[in-house]
Amino acid sequence: NPSVAYEEPSRKIETVAHRGASGYAPENTMASFQKSVDMKADYIELDVQETKDGKLVVMHDVTLDRTTNGSGYVKDHTLEEIRRLDAGSSFSKKYAGEIVPTFEEVLDRFRGKTGILVELKATYYYPDIEQKVAKALIDRQMDHPNNDKIIIQSFEPDAIKKMDELLPKVPVALLTGNQEDLTNEKLNEISKYAEYVNPYQGLINPPAVKKIHDHDMGVMGWTVRHKEEVQPLLDANIDAIITNYPDYVPSH
Ligand code: G3P
Ligand code: CA
Repeated sequence: NPSVAYEEPSRKIETVAHRGASGYAPENTMASFQKSVDMKADYIELDVQETKDGKLVVMHDVTLDRTTNGSGYVKDHTLEEIRRLDAGSSFSKKYAGEIVPTFEEVLDRFRGKTGILVELKATYYYPDIEQKVAKALIDRQMDHPNNDKIIIQSFEPDAIKKMDELLPKVPVALLTGNQEDLTNEKLNEISKYAEYVNPYQGLINPPAVKKIHDHDMGVMGWTVRHKEEVQPLLDANIDAIITNYPDYVPSH
């Protein structure tokens, strides 16, 4: 509910819809991404996995069980098999028939309409996923993101170092839930390849954000699921809020 009272920040805070506006529609589907655009969030966040036949699909988990009516690992199923699954009913019967999108489909449908924050997950299962993500962006000339706002993030430093080499013009972000990544020594190292540090919201406070800014990197915090989690992030001078509910962020 946008009627919650915030102290309006003096500068623009970017709103990132986590797995799309996943509080309102099934995560990582065209429905949740469209909802994010309708709600005027600045970015959609999505997670990429790879099928048995080497296709990129947008799913959070390495397995099909939680979000679809299938079961087993994504990597053990072909795209054709995964496309037959229902990715909407586990959220609500209203979304029955929603399917697992490919990464390319999301790029084609949403480029220019919203920023896209791409997360690489479980790269130990997918040795060539960085090359495939890079190719999908290069094929669409989305590797010079002047107009298309693209950021690539991962908890895995090696994955974003590789993306930084493959796509030097695309900003990359290190996700972390680890306080030890926020020491001056670690931030100095991270700043050699990353443009953002994206910490778990529990690690975010004014000195932590200042320290990251002092290393010339931006800060995107995750994952807001309750309204009362917003104000401390604004007070900390954060750059972006990653949330299932884009309307919780001021100016939304
Ligand atoms: O964007 C931050 C967030 O997506 C990281 O956690 O598990 O939701 O991918 P997870
Ligand atoms: Ca994610």
